[in-house]
Amino acid sequence: MREDILRVLSEQGGGYVSGQDLARRLGVSRTAVHKHIAALRAAGYQIESVPRLGHRLLVTPDRVTPAEVRLGLTTAVMGRLVEYRPSVTSTNDLAKELARAGAPEGLLAIAEEQVRGKGRLGRAWVSPPGVGVWMSVVLRPPLAPHEAAPLTLCAAVAVAEAIRATTGVPAGIRWPSDIVVGERKVCGILTELEAEWDRIEFAVVGIGINVNTPPDAFPPDLAMTATSLLAVTGSPVPRAPLVRAVLTRLEAAYREILAGHLDALFARWREYSVTLGRTVRIRPVAAGQPDLIGVAEEIDPAGALVVRLPDGGRRRVLAGDVNGWPAQG
Ligand code: BTN
Repeated sequence: MREDILRVLSEQGGGYVSGQDLARRLGVSRTAVHKHIAALRAAGYQIESVPRLGHRLLVTPDRVTPAEVRLGLTTAVMGRLVEYRPSVTSTNDLAKELARAGAPEGLLAIAEEQVRGKGRLGRAWVSPPGVGVWMSVVLRPPLAPHEAAPLTLCAAVAVAEAIRATTGVPAGIRWPSDIVVGERKVCGILTELEAEWDRIEFAVVGIGINVNTPPDAFPPDLAMTATSLLAVTGSPVPRAPLVRAVLTRLEAAYREILAGHLDALFARWREYSVTLGRTVRIRPVAAGQPDLIGVAEEIDPAGALVVRLPDGGRRRVLAGDVNGWPAQG
């Protein structure tokens, strides 16, 4: 009901709607409307109520609650179901737990804070409260595990496009799936699979975006390599519209995968890539291996980076970090 009241208030574009109108449209009593409006105020919404004019929404708190995320969301599958937590260990873990219990494709697990956020290659992901998008989506693609790479790439494309569309910031993709502004990382993606050898049971695509992290709030080891949309644009970025933009583009890109249109997806990945064509230094996953230096020439269908080495040879790299570490940098 609260979600319905918010929807009607938002539809007025800052104008008033009478208590009577609200009650009639939602099929409840005016007393019920007043109770829900009081609860919304307690949750941080500023709603002005004027006798004879009615109610109008003045300020929406920057939250990623189901009510906020679903407001005006037009997807068919992604984010239709939302599991929200003020605080969670990791939204990937929450999504996996729900997927094991049968959660459908498109379920979104999202939190204000993660206390054990996970990054790629076993690292930690710093996820302070109220300033980031920490979200995970359950997918059930009819694919084999070795066909999973496009899932991460489609999430990277979706986030780069969502950031561009909502903020105008020219976000790029650093292989495989870091979203960067200039040389600094603003978002990381962690895809986890549960699978039999020939069939993915489900995938969880976890997306972490540093949205409103104050520039001086990154831990010292990330200060030189990470950034946030606030730091880049100079003003706070509302998180729920960004989440909706990601979900909308993720749905479209995922449909392309299911339709077998991988070429279109890879073309968009290349368009946003800041890695291809550059001399890169890659830190291999295996400890003790030397860094690899060469020109990043191509990304192959398995998501591997094809690198031209100084001796003219070519090497496929399946996992690693390009030009920079540690975790969020
Ligand atoms: C990386 O190392 O670049 C990947 C970071 C992925 C972070 C996101 S935040 C939401 C989801 N939950 C997690 O624990 N990790 C991912």
